[in-house]
Amino acid sequence: MRWNIGLAYLAALLGCVSEGFAADTITVRDGETGFTFSEYQAAFVIGQAIKFRVAVPSPAPDKFDLVFQIIAPTAVGWTGLAWGASMVNNPLTIGWASGSTPVISVRRTSVRTQPQIYDGATVQLLKTGTRVNGTHWQVTAKCSGCSSFSTTGSTTKNLNANGSNRLAFAYSKTRPNSASTAAMISVHDVYNYWDHDFSTAGNPDFDQLVKNNS
Ligand code: HEM
Ligand SMILES: *[C@@H]1O[C@H](CO)[C@@H](O)[C@H](O)[C@H]1NC(C)=O
Ligand SMILES: *[C@@H]1O[C@H](CO)[C@@H](O)[C@H](O)[C@H]1NC(C)=O
Repeated sequence: MRWNIGLAYLAALLGCVSEGFAADTITVRDGETGFTFSEYQAAFVIGQAIKFRVAVPSPAPDKFDLVFQIIAPTAVGWTGLAWGASMVNNPLTIGWASGSTPVISVRRTSVRTQPQIYDGATVQLLKTGTRVNGTHWQVTAKCSGCSSFSTTGSTTKNLNANGSNRLAFAYSKTRPNSASTAAMISVHDVYNYWDHDFSTAGNPDFDQLVKNNS
């Protein structure tokens, strides 16, 4: 297929990809927090994207904590990351802006109805890199339990700290009407999936960076 070869050739020429075509992410160093993240830009309407960023310790233990960042234009009512690339049976980290307060809520569900609070994963919002301003809201948070979790029955899913992981997001234009982590959230307008390369997201000074930004 000449079309595909053409695209790959163009991408290589532009230097879009350094590690083949497995992942949909780029690597960024965030000057504000000091973390190196791999970043996916998720289009939620034509011409606008939410940035989902992941940073991991390097080297990483089997069950590793990670830091994620969500940078969302004000038009985003709520957005969530599904760490197992599905609406069901995995931790969902959902963020929104309640006035000037950024909120993160961890939810889970086994059916496709409003996910309920889930305490099998915990998030700690980092002070630096978390804000609401006139154009965006942004959260930076450490998660324990996002990289390793049970799915159904006794099945455990471990994300690969040194490879590509399938993730999903959902977006709604409707803002939850409170800063409570248990706030009602309405159904999404858009969802999608991508391959997120964690191998370029390693941070040798992970613990120190978490401390510095807390
Ligand atoms: C009130 C809240 C929610 C409701 C009522 C809801 C409902 C639904 C329904 C009915 C579907 C099936 C759509 C179809 O087949 O066309 C679906 C799919 C999906 N939802 Fe939700 N949802 C909610 C929240 C969320 C959240 C918070 C996330 C992730 C952070 C999410 C992620 C997804 C994904 C990725 C799919 C695609 C199917 C799959 O991968 O499981 N949803 N949702
Ligand atoms: C990935 O593998 C390389 C080589 O084995 C290692 O040096 C690096 O620390 C690993 N990265 C993570 C995030 O574990
Ligand atoms: C508002 O926040 C966004 C996301 O953090 C940032 O990129 C932008 O520079 C901020 N705008 C101002 C005026 O500080």
